[in-house]
Amino acid sequence: MATPLIILVPLIFGSSFTSSTSDSLSEGSSLSVETMDDVLTSPSGTFTAGFYSIGQNAYCFAIWFSKPFCTDCPVVWMANRDQPVNGRGSKLSLIQSGNLVLSDAGYLIVWSSNTVSASSTSLKLDDNGNLILGNSDGHVLWQSFDAPTDTLLPLQLLTKITKLVSSRSQTNFSSGFFKLYFDTDNVLRLLYEDPEVSSVYWPEPYLLSWEAGRSTYNNSRIAVLDALGNFSSTDDFTFLSADYGLKLQRRLKIDFDGNLRLYSRAEGEENWLVSWEAMSDPCMIHGSCGPNSLCSYVPASGRKCSCIPGYKMKDNTDRSLGCEPEFNLSCNQSEAGFMKLTHVEFYGYDYGFYQNYTLDMCKNLCLQICDCKGFQFKFITAHGPSGIYCYPKTQLLNGHRSVNFNGDIYLKLPKVSLDYHSNPVPDYKLECSTQVVEQLERMYPNSNENPSLRFVIWAACAIGGIELFSILFVWCFLIRAHDNSAAAHNYMLAASGFRKFTYSELKKATNGFKEEIGGGAEGIVYKGILSDRRVAAIKRLIDANQGEAEFLAEVSTIGKLNHMNLIDIWGYCAEGKHWLLVYEYMENGSLAKNLSSKTLDWKKRFNIAVGTAKGLAYLHEECLEWVLHCDIKPQNILLDSNFQPKVSDFGMSRLLKRGHLKNLGFSRMRGTRGYMAPEWVHSHPISSKVDVYSFGIVLLEMITGRNPAMGVEETDYASEKGQRTLVTWVREQMKGNEEGSRWMREIIDPILDGKYDPDEMLIMIRVALQCVQEDKDARPTMGQVIQMLLHD
Ligand SMILES: *[C@@H]1O[C@H](CO)[C@@H](O)[C@H](O)[C@H]1NC(C)=O
Ligand SMILES: *[C@@H]1O[C@H](CO)[C@@H](O)[C@H](O)[C@H]1NC(C)=O
Ligand SMILES: *[C@@H]1O[C@H](CO)[C@@H](O)[C@H](O)[C@H]1NC(C)=O
Ligand SMILES: *[C@@H]1O[C@H](CO)[C@@H](O)[C@H](O)[C@H]1NC(C)=O
Ligand SMILES: *[C@@H]1O[C@H](CO)[C@@H](O)[C@H](O)[C@H]1NC(C)=O
Ligand SMILES: *[C@@H]1O[C@H](CO)[C@@H](O)[C@H](O)[C@H]1NC(C)=O
Repeated sequence: MATPLIILVPLIFGSSFTSSTSDSLSEGSSLSVETMDDVLTSPSGTFTAGFYSIGQNAYCFAIWFSKPFCTDCPVVWMANRDQPVNGRGSKLSLIQSGNLVLSDAGYLIVWSSNTVSASSTSLKLDDNGNLILGNSDGHVLWQSFDAPTDTLLPLQLLTKITKLVSSRSQTNFSSGFFKLYFDTDNVLRLLYEDPEVSSVYWPEPYLLSWEAGRSTYNNSRIAVLDALGNFSSTDDFTFLSADYGLKLQRRLKIDFDGNLRLYSRAEGEENWLVSWEAMSDPCMIHGSCGPNSLCSYVPASGRKCSCIPGYKMKDNTDRSLGCEPEFNLSCNQSEAGFMKLTHVEFYGYDYGFYQNYTLDMCKNLCLQICDCKGFQFKFITAHGPSGIYCYPKTQLLNGHRSVNFNGDIYLKLPKVSLDYHSNPVPDYKLECSTQVVEQLERMYPNSNENPSLRFVIWAACAIGGIELFSILFVWCFLIRAHDNSAAAHNYMLAASGFRKFTYSELKKATNGFKEEIGGGAEGIVYKGILSDRRVAAIKRLIDANQGEAEFLAEVSTIGKLNHMNLIDIWGYCAEGKHWLLVYEYMENGSLAKNLSSKTLDWKKRFNIAVGTAKGLAYLHEECLEWVLHCDIKPQNILLDSNFQPKVSDFGMSRLLKRGHLKNLGFSRMRGTRGYMAPEWVHSHPISSKVDVYSFGIVLLEMITGRNPAMGVEETDYASEKGQRTLVTWVREQMKGNEEGSRWMREIIDPILDGKYDPDEMLIMIRVALQCVQEDKDARPTMGQVIQMLLHD
């Protein structure tokens, strides 16, 4: 410990004379890894470029967001992600020939811009986050925007020659296996590619490009995100961020888990919100669990991977490597047998597909193929001719288990081990953060120690003692901050995504609280137009004193959430007795209003069901703050101009940390009669399944058009309690009538006039009835609900 300290002294001591934060690097000068403030800053201070600590003694030259806060400074670009440099002697130098060179520990060149220039050059960081090497006649020789790592910033073009590559894990910044790129057919895709296999998972691989809404005609292959949150690509793929509009900062990043997410951060805030993501079901991301394993997704507890029977985890420290066989299988057909796993799908890597094969034929086929690892056996009705299909598999990749997948996999295992493996091995959970610290061997050049250097060291020691202490203190502090930021890097969706408004501002916006657009027990909602011309819904709490607790609960909960199917909150006001909340305005009002006014056809209803489920799943989702809504009802599902649903009113919900379910201290019942799960009445423990129950009731209401709180008019049932009535009534109608569809006509909302998709209707009824089961454990999770609605 003593030696490195002494070595540091002259360096730090020296640094206080020579370097300072600056906005450009001129020819012949360099930035040193040893000097904390040897960095380039963009004119407004938004971005900083410098050496970024990625572990013990390991640094990368990077660009990161540095304003307004840097407790979690997201890296947007790295020069040497795959080859970190040592913490001493390394530097980035702009040499006389015009080449920008990054050297490790003084001698080894790990990266360079490969540029030459006759005229003088300089390196600048601009306010878009682009590091530009230009020469004196304004020519750009090199820029970081042309060589992205895993992040695309607004106005940075993704082109035919660039791609985004994920990092290896949350803490390992080196190149990972997921890529966003333009394929040779001009379509923008997400790809999993490890040294052995590669497969595309977005857009959905079983769809043709045009079926996925992509065009293959424009070969200019350019995609760009604008500052407002509009992403557009030349293959016709576009999306608008859920918080479209002027935000301070945005970044589109391919995360280490293979999902592509848009993050945004509003002015003055510390935390980043996810305002769009490509994949809603993480198990559909190929490669996410590695080979020979199964992914299953439980929103409340996260994505889980498990080795299939007969296989074991390849590397306990890197679960993405998946599993490997515990057996050796010879080619002798009489030594192999099969084990059936139901509702399991492995995508891709088929030896071929065989229609109308019986199970025995398929088994024989797999036995004959030496490297057949098993086969998929499923009955297909949609997509092409129906029938039984047999798919022998040469590799078992992209496996996932879903109760709704109508097919089975038969694993080929040695006969001797078939009994032994009758129970599948337990799940292993993918950690949200895997703490692995990069550590570089120290390999500094030997400096020939000489007496004068010794003298400088000791002199510095004497003079700079106090300075050293304070600098080391700050330094350790900064390193700590870096460590924290690594752990919290993704999924930080927290803290006050809104601003404070003054009462007079809101009074003006609503024209003196004139236009009332809704109301509830807690307060009245008015339409208003903010000074930046955004139309807002402004909720004014009726009784400030009584509403205060709810108000604060609502503010702290919804301020932390951001999803396209959750209502966005823009701000609040708390002045004396005035307590107000400012939401985005939803053109089409609530689902309740629309159900009674007959505007919703079947397509819209189904879409609303899916969107609402997505919003709720997000509330319950892995790695996010875990939140119960507790008051799902049509009044709280709002519709935008395209009838896209957004869940609103989290006033009664309570912020929960995952895993603390048992200690729930709900002080009083929450919810609305007709929609409340039986747990409330029986004082059973409350879990996310209360939201599932209420959601099921809402589905039944959308299907039947009947208000669950009113009961069903048929006399037999009217005496029972409301919610039970609607559920029981639907169940009774279904029972005994399973053949045919007459019962469906009985229960379906007459407003639909018989115009609906019978398959979707059946799925929705089935899902609804599963959601409203008395036993909370028998109800599906919201994630499973989405799967059932979309993939059945
Ligand atoms: C392709 O896209 C680019 C950029 O949007 C556009 O300028 C160009 O006209 C398009 N080409 C064709 C053939 O549509
Ligand atoms: C988003 O950008 C595309 C391409 O520039 C444009 O055609 C589209 O109108 C934009 N959408 C919005 C809502 O601004
Ligand atoms: C499989 O074969 C390899 C070499 O042929 C041997 O080292 C290994 O122990 C065998 N594994 C099992 C489970 O028999
Ligand atoms: C295949 O295995 C069976 C049973 O273990 C054995 O009787 C037979 O001789 C083997 N066949 C070959 C070709 O090795
Ligand atoms: C498979 O069976 C179905 C139904 O019996 C039939 O329509 C189809 O033509 C068969 N396909 C083949 C390839 O035999
Ligand atoms: C980071 O990932 C790379 C590539 O897989 C690997 O070589 C390196 O050892 C990893 N670093 C750590 C600290 O695990």
